Amino acid sequence: MKIAFLGGGNLATALIGGLVAKGQDARKIAVIELSPSAREKLGARFPVHISTAPDAAVQGADTLVLAVKPQDMRKALASLGGARGKLVISVAAGIGLASLSRWLGGHRKLVRAMPNTPALIGAGISGLFSLPEVSAEEKKRAETILGAVGEVVWLADEKLLDPVTAVSASGPAYVFWFIEQLAASGEKLGIPKQDAMKLALHTVLGAARLASSSKDSPADLRRQVTSAGGTTEAALKVFDEEKLAERFARAVAAASRRGGELGEEFGKD
Ligand SMILES: NC(=O)c1ccc[n+]([C@@H]2O[C@H](COP(=O)([O-])OP(=O)(O)OC[C@H]3O[C@@H](n4cnc5c(N)ncnc54)[C@H](OP(=O)(O)O)[C@@H]3O)[C@@H](O)[C@H]2O)c1
Repeated sequence: MKIAFLGGGNLATALIGGLVAKGQDARKIAVIELSPSAREKLGARFPVHISTAPDAAVQGADTLVLAVKPQDMRKALASLGGARGKLVISVAAGIGLASLSRWLGGHRKLVRAMPNTPALIGAGISGLFSLPEVSAEEKKRAETILGAVGEVVWLADEKLLDPVTAVSASGPAYVFWFIEQLAASGEKLGIPKQDAMKLALHTVLGAARLASSSKDSPADLRRQVTSAGGTTEAALKVFDEEKLAERFARAVAAASRRGGELGEEFGKD
């Protein structure tokens, strides 16, 4: 693949690292990056071609990954001068394909991806949506690029990217919050701070690994550790009494609504 990145920051670096680890030739990757410090950092890690404006290497790429911040996207695309038949994959949060297509002069070979921060360590998951003009081969290419930093899920409707953002892109923050609360609760019960954090962190890590490797569903695994009259049941009973499931669903729905609002804001001309 000949890939060009518009923006060579954190996520682009993670994607390049993942692709190179899977055998992609770094010299066939072109990056347009305006920040001198980001250029220096990226260049020190990979022998990629870095420029400050679209040049022959960018024009020769078959795939263009848009990896600038949502608020920089419109200006960045204006300086690009079109996408000329390339598959364009945007990883920018919020900005809809209608805005991207308009800013690229009606370009329709577009994929929108919503990755999450565990992508930075190759353990991400991305929701992907493509326009009908994207071929099966191009979809496979998008899957290879995002798949270099984790799992991918194709979506049937672009509208689902807001709920996906609320579940998997904001999701790591919910898990960090849960780790904080579990550790703080242990501390309140007398466990030394460092030990409480270690216990909480490894509990989440171990439970997630068990859930992802087990044939049993998370609900079954939960039931297996919940014996009648036992300690887990005592905690889960409080969750039910406090209607935690309903409150959690309201929180995730608020994130999804906010995703839609931000998309409208960022997608304006
Ligand atoms: N990080 C994640 O895990 C994650 C997860 C999901 C989605 N995303 C999406 O991925 C995108 C990139 O995020 P990031 O965390 O990688 O951001 P980042 O580290 O700030 O990287 C963006 C880079 O693009 C540069 N830039 C700005 N305008 C440019 C232009 N016109 N041409 C070329 N380069 C330009 C920025 O330079 P300056 O700093 O000088 O502006 C910056 O170095 C965002 O849209 C974000 O929504 C990221």
